[in-house]
Amino acid sequence: MPACRPGAVSLVTGAAGNIGRSVALGLARSGVRVVLADLASAADGLDESRELCVAASTDDYTNASDHRTVTFDVTDFGEVASAFDRVAAEVGTPTLVFNNAGYQGHFANLVDYDLADLRRVLDINVAGVFAVLQSAARAMQAAGVGGAVVNMASMAGVSGAPNMGAYSTSKAAVIGLTKSAAKDLAPLGIRVNSVSPGFIGPGFMWERQVELQASVPSQYYADTFDEVAEQMINMVPLRRYGSLDEVAGAVLFLLSDAAGFVNGVNLEISGGGA
Ligand SMILES: NC(=O)c1ccc[n+]([C@@H]2O[C@H](COP(=O)([O-])OP(=O)(O)OC[C@H]3O[C@@H](n4cnc5c(N)ncnc54)[C@H](O)[C@@H]3O)[C@@H](O)[C@H]2O)c1
Repeated sequence: MPACRPGAVSLVTGAAGNIGRSVALGLARSGVRVVLADLASAADGLDESRELCVAASTDDYTNASDHRTVTFDVTDFGEVASAFDRVAAEVGTPTLVFNNAGYQGHFANLVDYDLADLRRVLDINVAGVFAVLQSAARAMQAAGVGGAVVNMASMAGVSGAPNMGAYSTSKAAVIGLTKSAAKDLAPLGIRVNSVSPGFIGPGFMWERQVELQASVPSQYYADTFDEVAEQMINMVPLRRYGSLDEVAGAVLFLLSDAAGFVNGVNLEISGGGA
């Protein structure tokens, strides 16, 4: 795994979830101090992620008390801003930020899609990502330091996934936001990139999307779990889904100094699939 700057403070949203946990662990292994953020309702998962980070920190740069948890809802702009203020005062300014919290939304054809769910998806995946990015940039600006942010997009936002109209819309917006923010924040020494994982597994999101695509009638997928899983794998030139470690590796690269001249890029982690 690429190593990030030891001793730096990082903040990972969605850190109780699969990808957030995996990136938090990679950061901890690099000797980075990790602030693990998620919803208050995910506090148990957040504590588990923190324990794993503590166990992974066997270097000189960190000790158990360096990894903290913080809870906020990314859609509550006041909560996001005050969480960043608290973290900056108590731990230090996060200079490596993985803006990852997200919600997949319903699976339904566009003609049937529930507009209330559309609003929820956009609120979490777009407004939430925007708010975290803004608070992170304000904190770095106030401290007079630069840093790096990686926003979580998705191949759904690159190619448009069937039955995922709201999610695809939201992730395309994240890619646009990334490119715009990369320009706005460059003068502050803050790089902004995004990652777009394709099919990643095993785990909850893989199973949920296979199951739900099988349950919605469409010309693109069959109606059983096994057939849909096979169809999805056959769409990937490398003929497998990606692992959590492979997502974490790409995120850590973008957060590391090795990517010091990489800015405004959306990195596809898809095995070559569209
Ligand atoms: N797993 C995949 O196949 C895949 C592929 C492409 C993109 N992604 C994206 O990666 C990110 C992480 O996905 P994951 O697979 O780890 O899913 P996950 O469900 O395991 O994790 C998502 C986390 O986000 C948190 N979250 C949701 N709403 C929130 C809110 N309002 N405020 C704060 N936290 C909130 C959840 O509590 C959860 O811990 C998401 O943005 C997702 O869209 C995942």
